Amino acid sequence: MIKKRFDDETMDAPVNINRVSAEQFCFYSHLILGTPTMGEGQLPGLGAACSEESWEEALDRFAEVDLTGKTVALFGLGDQVGYPMEFVDGLRDLYDFIVERGTTVVGAWPTTGYDFEASRAVNDEETHFVGLALDQDNQADQTAERLEAWLALIAPEFSLSL
Ligand SMILES: Cc1cc2nc3c(=O)[nH]c(=O)nc-3n(C[C@H](O)[C@H](O)[C@H](O)COP(=O)(O)O)c2cc1C
Repeated sequence: MIKKRFDDETMDAPVNINRVSAEQFCFYSHLILGTPTMGEGQLPGLGAACSEESWEEALDRFAEVDLTGKTVALFGLGDQVGYPMEFVDGLRDLYDFIVERGTTVVGAWPTTGYDFEASRAVNDEETHFVGLALDQDNQADQTAERLEAWLALIAPEFSLSL
């Protein structure tokens, strides 16, 4: 849905993280990274009982990368009704990994409009997620609107024309 908004000059096609090498990961100055939360509040991967490698293994592969000076925006998919204590928790693991490597993360997203008990992906004040939270299981009708507003939020940092 994100890529469909932009031409190939502006944005490369999305790639599945299990096919990305450390070199490719470092190639871009601006990255939009997304993940569902699986297992019990985990990033997807074999440790979260997924059938294929995913972010869990990718972060091992990227352990030594230097992301200093890059700009990153994060989005996460989750299920606030089925997993109200771990809603989009995986976003936090992605965020911590990125920030530890010297990167600026933009696109914090308000927690208003969601109904959950706890999430590791919120800030201390619980006013914002560290990235866009999407719930295709319960609020799919809000996804397009949320995406559009979030893209407007990160547009200046990513030099995107909407
Ligand atoms: C086994 C399993 C575990 C899940 N665990 C969580 C969770 O801890 N937190 C959460 O917010 N969503 C959780 N979900 C919901 C998924 O994140 C959600 O359905 C997501 O949109 C799936 O994306 P996908 O279709 O790209 O795999 C879980 C779903 C499954 C099937």
